Amino acid sequence: MHPPLPPQLFSHEFAANPYPAYAWLREHAPVHWTTLPSGVDAWLVTRYTDARQALADTRLSKNPAKHSLQAHRSGRVGIPGERSADLMTHLLNIDPPDHTRLRRLVSKAFTPRRVAAFEPRVREITDRLIDAFAERGSADLIHEFAFPLPIYAICDLLGVPPEDQDDFRDWAGMMIHHGQSPRGGVGRAVKKMRGYLAELIHRKRADLGEDLISGLIRASDHGEHLTENEAAAMAFILLFAGFETTVNLIGNGMFALLTHPEQRAALQGSLERGESAPLESAVEELLRYDGPVEIATWRFATEPLTLGGQDIAAGDPVLVVLAAADRDPERFPHPDTLDLARRDNPHIAFGLGIHYCIGAPLARLEAQYALSALLRRLPDLSLAADPAELRWRGGLIMRGLRQLPVEFTP
Ligand code: HEM
Repeated sequence: MHPPLPPQLFSHEFAANPYPAYAWLREHAPVHWTTLPSGVDAWLVTRYTDARQALADTRLSKNPAKHSLQAHRSGRVGIPGERSADLMTHLLNIDPPDHTRLRRLVSKAFTPRRVAAFEPRVREITDRLIDAFAERGSADLIHEFAFPLPIYAICDLLGVPPEDQDDFRDWAGMMIHHGQSPRGGVGRAVKKMRGYLAELIHRKRADLGEDLISGLIRASDHGEHLTENEAAAMAFILLFAGFETTVNLIGNGMFALLTHPEQRAALQGSLERGESAPLESAVEELLRYDGPVEIATWRFATEPLTLGGQDIAAGDPVLVVLAAADRDPERFPHPDTLDLARRDNPHIAFGLGIHYCIGAPLARLEAQYALSALLRRLPDLSLAADPAELRWRGGLIMRGLRQLPVEFTP
């Protein structure tokens, strides 16, 4: 018997809930050739085992120049505007040995100590944002909370002075609306950010501080080479990769908690008792259940290869669907059930291998503090809209809500 027809991908309904379509693909077409809304053709990889294999496969390059020639010339993959703003040399577009060199440099600057030292600042930003709406009894948690929190956090981390951070908030706002506004708008925001970063790096070089950009300059001054262009691309990718992801981790995570009252009540109970382990495992489960990165970034076959029994030609793009892999019943029992106490949870929401998320410790810190602060300070927080009415952003890589209206006792 032939399987039923493939579900429609990338529609409005799909954006609201892609999981049934992914379940179909995992079962009937685990490595599936499809045309994306941009018109580019790509393989979608949906099974957990295949996804892990693909993320670790050195024959899959991150360099867009490995895309089949004609397609590469059209330049329709990657972050809008990065090509024209000369920001291509960042971690998510390069392979070893350049990737190894740049990743080592940023790891030296992005140390666990620097992240841990950042905790009081994350608390301060979080509390200030909640203070601004706590008396009102209602809020949009995306615009008033999840969106500004990571922007201020990353700006601080990079060393963007406070008086410039609202410009970043505006540019980031233009970037995050790329589902709605034309690519040109995103391109303009990226260009402005590029100009600003070049100038900031120049200023820091003359006056090094304790921030990450100074750390990058210092690290490169100690024997390893980092060009001005690479430093700007690095700052840009830290911002880009660390911003919308965190917005969505807080947004999707809070949405899952608000729509699973029993699970949320148990977590609230453990927070009241001052326990930290349940909060940590809850954030891991929220990452697995409805993670911010639906599809890992672009990969291109450098030679013919076979994945999940499917032949892939050199030059073909391969997209690993993290959201589908993390709901694979072959690896996760009852994968569609949110279980905040899930123990065996090797999700791949942060990726795997050499491109594994460098910001994972910061993301965990921000999400743990943000979610626990909301639950502690606004204990009767509830959704102020029908969950089915909420709108999701339609981007290819990220998965997140446009708004999250809530109400609570002021
Ligand atoms: C909030 C949740 C986050 C999630 C779910 C997430 C997810 C991911 C994933 C899946 C990748 C691998 C992409 C691929 O292989 O195609 C990645 C890479 C990366 N992430 Fe994150 N990320 C998060 C937060 C952050 C933060 C806060 C930062 C930095 C401030 C950050 C910086 C990066 C960078 C620089 C890379 C590229 C690493 C490389 O290519 O070597 N991320 N992230």
